[in-house]
Amino acid sequence: MHSTSLDPAIPETCVSAAVAAPSIHNTQPWSFRLDPESATFQVRAATERGLRHTDPAGRALHLSVGACLLNLRVAAAHCGWSPVRRLLPSPEDPGLLAVVRLAGAVTRRPTEHRMDLYEAIWRRHSSRLPFSGLPLPQYLRNELGEAARAEGARLWFPDPVETERQLRLTAEAERRNRIDVDRTTESSRWVHRDLQPQPDVGLPRAVLGLQDAREQLPLRDFTAQRHTERLGARPFETEPVIAVLITEHDRRADWLRAGQALQHVWLLATAHGLRASLLHQALEWPDLRRFLSPKPGRTGHAQMLIRLGYGPEGAASPRRAPRLALDGVLAPR
Ligand SMILES: Cc1cc2nc3c(=O)[nH]c(=O)nc-3n(C[C@H](O)[C@H](O)[C@H](O)COP(=O)(O)O)c2cc1C
Repeated sequence: MHSTSLDPAIPETCVSAAVAAPSIHNTQPWSFRLDPESATFQVRAATERGLRHTDPAGRALHLSVGACLLNLRVAAAHCGWSPVRRLLPSPEDPGLLAVVRLAGAVTRRPTEHRMDLYEAIWRRHSSRLPFSGLPLPQYLRNELGEAARAEGARLWFPDPVETERQLRLTAEAERRNRIDVDRTTESSRWVHRDLQPQPDVGLPRAVLGLQDAREQLPLRDFTAQRHTERLGARPFETEPVIAVLITEHDRRADWLRAGQALQHVWLLATAHGLRASLLHQALEWPDLRRFLSPKPGRTGHAQMLIRLGYGPEGAASPRRAPRLALDGVLAPR
């Protein structure tokens, strides 16, 4: 037990870092409870913020919670605590997606990550702007691959021909999404107009709105405008770098691992000055998703398409205050 030595600022730091994670449509579908006695966080699914039409099985929700779990672990290690995590610890409580115990002081920081990725938590954001044509060096591709492997996933960088095929599958998914009334209605609900103050979940219009004038990169049309000319268009990079995140199996624990891998890769990329945005559309259509895995055999399960490159500075979408995501008591100050 470490309750006597757990500085009350630490749980706050951990939850603030956790809620800075990416989530589908910025739904932030998580909640936390801290047991100060055992210094253990419970991480739960906030299923009321799930996307019934876009994500009926909750795969994207699990990926989002996995990403927040990685941030929580990085923050705990940054504060000098060793995070011990268990995924899906209780079969009779399926909403409990993970527990993380702060298991004593770490001797050398950071323990879990070769680099302290904590600072990158606050700089990471989705960049839906054009990237420069600068190529991604091989050593960086290798490091990002290692980050994915450390979380039990695999990162595959398809060659230009395969990349084009992945983008065609994404474009087909995007076309289907735009004519699916249930999905467009659901997606539009999470986009707000230029309200002041901005709501603390969902997507402000300002972070969206651009499309690739060459129509090579099918960015998600969250507002279902359906027409490129209404969204504003600029030429994007002509040779996009796409990385495909793959897991061996496709169970709930694999989705949580994929989310942690996504965020580990994204934080490391951020620390190296890279920007990223996600192309998840083809993952939302099982018949298309199947073709995202590498040939031959198309083994493994694609979990995410990550677009990487060098681009302008940007900012993350607003978040709910950490205290609103914290269900239960914090240790008193
Ligand atoms: C599972 C998942 C799917 C996502 N799909 C997309 C997508 O298809 N297109 C996109 O632009 N962003 C996508 N995002 C990014 C979220 O929209 C973004 O993380 C969220 O709005 C918060 O903004 P931030 O990343 O700038 O902090 C996805 C995120 C997650 C975790």
